[in-house]
Amino acid sequence: MANDNLKKAKKAKNDEFYTQWADIEKEIMAYIDYNPDVFRDKTVLLPCDDPEWSNFTKFFAQNFEAFGLKKLISTSYAYESKKINIPYQTSLFEEQSPHFNPDINKIKGKIFTLDHDTNQNGVIDIEDLEWRYLEGDGDFRSDEVKKLRDEADIIITNPPFSLFREFLAWIVEADKHFLIIGNINCLTYKEIFKLIKENSIWLGTGMGRWISGFIVPESYELYGTEARIENGSRIVATNNCLWLTNIDHGKRHQRLTLMSMADNMKYSKHKEVKEQKYKKYDNYDAIEVPFTDSIPSDYDGIMGVPVTFLDKYCPEQFDIVALGNLNGFTPNKLYINPKSHINGKEKNNEMINSVLTLKGKDKKGNYYSADNIDYYIYAPYARILIKKRGDS
Ligand SMILES: C[S@@+](CC[C@H](N)C(=O)[O-])C[C@H]1O[C@@H](n2cnc3c(N)ncnc32)[C@H](O)[C@@H]1O
Repeated sequence: MANDNLKKAKKAKNDEFYTQWADIEKEIMAYIDYNPDVFRDKTVLLPCDDPEWSNFTKFFAQNFEAFGLKKLISTSYAYESKKINIPYQTSLFEEQSPHFNPDINKIKGKIFTLDHDTNQNGVIDIEDLEWRYLEGDGDFRSDEVKKLRDEADIIITNPPFSLFREFLAWIVEADKHFLIIGNINCLTYKEIFKLIKENSIWLGTGMGRWISGFIVPESYELYGTEARIENGSRIVATNNCLWLTNIDHGKRHQRLTLMSMADNMKYSKHKEVKEQKYKKYDNYDAIEVPFTDSIPSDYDGIMGVPVTFLDKYCPEQFDIVALGNLNGFTPNKLYINPKSHINGKEKNNEMINSVLTLKGKDKKGNYYSADNIDYYIYAPYARILIKKRGDS
């Protein structure tokens, strides 16, 4: 249900999901723990933000001195460009500012900068934030925001869900360090998986319920079992979000502690593994490992593991070989005239020729048949193909 919220957000372009301070703090502090100078003398850009609503600007402004930042820039997107069903409201902060212009306030983006002690009270913090209107609406794709991107060393935000792919491409083309929030589905996008495979980008320090929820506006329906109101904020919980980054952190260098294949088959807590054999795929030379904690420590061949393995991926321990679909691997067998048998309904279905297959039927009793096999096959959930590193 919670996953549906983000799916709906993507579909309806409801991009007003705001990140909670505690989630930002938890993630950022992990990078500081690993490298206390990670932000020192750096220009940090927070695009798709708005200090009136969002905690990213507040968090970095409050920690400006502690992190040793050189400059903080954040930009917001104009109300009218958002095309949302949320009543327009000017804030006290805006109205009291000498820059406030009611004629353009709805149609222009804003830029907020912090790089010195404007009020000369001896500390650089949120009170020193300066702002002005942008020329345009603050679209991250505009030339003026691109210029800010090029000036920045590090880009951090929770981007609009509906433009996630474009947003990441925008960062990658400028070759910047970044930390952004995305959805687990993005890991299997061809262009993103390629970067993960080559270790150019990786997951942050947690996924799933690691991000405890997003603040949504009044007009958003509060659906999902974990939706709640906390300190007056309306919060929608998710279990499928993650941080994506190319900034190093300690967790990705922690090796998984694993049992041998024999021990897994003796002691695994999973009934699918205990006293079972590791299955081989029918159309590829690799074994199926249904759980990350069931990866056998002593298997040297290729293994298919759940996508969530990436949350535990240590590049010193494993190599990523390919994605378990046709974007990634080449099957060693093609099924002729494959038919799916789902909920008792038979249908011609070529899909099975683009994914890893196992012999038998899935848990629900669904399966595929084909002219050139005399057994049934099915596709496990999305898999990533990995291999133990030679030296691990
Ligand atoms: C998921 S929200 C996150 C807001 C804030 N970064 C945070 O995490 O609290 C994404 C924001 O991007 C804005 N946005 C949507 N399309 C945009 C675009 N093309 N350029 C810049 N911002 C955009 C949305 O209006 C929304 O405020």
